[in-house]
Amino acid sequence: MSGNVEFPMNGGDGANSYSKNSRYQVEAINVVKEMIQEAIAKNLDKPLNGNTIQKSLAEMPEFQLFFNDHASNDFNTLFITLPPDRQYFAAGVPGSFYGRLFPKSSIHLMYSSFALQWLSKVPEELLDNGSLAWNKGKIHYTIASKEITDVYAAQFAKDMDTFFNARADEIIVGGLMILIMPGFADGIQYSQDPSCPFFYAFNQSLLDMVKLGMINEDEVDSFNLPLYATSPKEMTKLVERNGCFSIERMEVSNTRPQNDGPPIVPAILTHYRVGLEGIFTKHFGSKIVDELFERTLNKS
Ligand SMILES: C[S@@+](CC[C@H](N)C(=O)[O-])C[C@H]1O[C@@H](n2cnc3c(N)ncnc32)[C@H](O)[C@@H]1O
Repeated sequence: MSGNVEFPMNGGDGANSYSKNSRYQVEAINVVKEMIQEAIAKNLDKPLNGNTIQKSLAEMPEFQLFFNDHASNDFNTLFITLPPDRQYFAAGVPGSFYGRLFPKSSIHLMYSSFALQWLSKVPEELLDNGSLAWNKGKIHYTIASKEITDVYAAQFAKDMDTFFNARADEIIVGGLMILIMPGFADGIQYSQDPSCPFFYAFNQSLLDMVKLGMINEDEVDSFNLPLYATSPKEMTKLVERNGCFSIERMEVSNTRPQNDGPPIVPAILTHYRVGLEGIFTKHFGSKIVDELFERTLNKS
């Protein structure tokens, strides 16, 4: 699989839909809500001509809120689920955030949650059997060689640069950008990341299915998940190297729901399914998807 990637979450509101399986993302937003409110009050006071977010409703400025995703995202379900009594005007903006989405200097606050882990494309070296980074038999940099991890990191660095440049054009001087991204603390090896065993289990399930003749070896060799998890140190380096933005605050938060007990593997796998079903289906065909998730569940 190569080229630019566009695999939106499962749409609708059925059992395997994103809207019914985004509890971990909601929890992350709850964790950072207070930080966001503080950052808005501190940083957006001046650009909004003295109207702070805390002032009375009568003095509130009017807000226009744009929801961005790929054009193939299920915007209808999103709009249907917006609260009817909302105090903002809503609009959808289709297109990749690795390009320009808005007119110059038109955005006060840009917010991105759980989306920048998607690379703009699968790095070509992973598919090149003459390259040291040929990712044969693997679908990610999970438990892969340093060369492969480096190729993923280089693609992420390029993508962040493109993203920062586009947002720098669109955000007003003195505006604010808030990014929530999956990642891990400095000094933690990627192999210790909780997602690692799941990606490994997906990989092993696919290899088992090759042995059983259900899919071809080539299909696994040519498949790589365009997903990357960063760290504070890496993000700091990329922001500083780009130079368009300065960092006000950066934190690693544990976003697992409070009082949740031990992680429930089937629920976690459903979370993966709503996000990854599209990409697996596009490459391997819809027939193997149930089997793939069932096998992965049994290995997790
Ligand atoms: C895990 S969902 C998060 C959705 C939402 N922000 C939330 O917090 O629930 C990731 C979303 O990012 C979108 N996405 C990934 N790459 C994108 C890109 N280059 N441009 C626009 N949207 C993208 C996907 O289509 C998907 O809907």
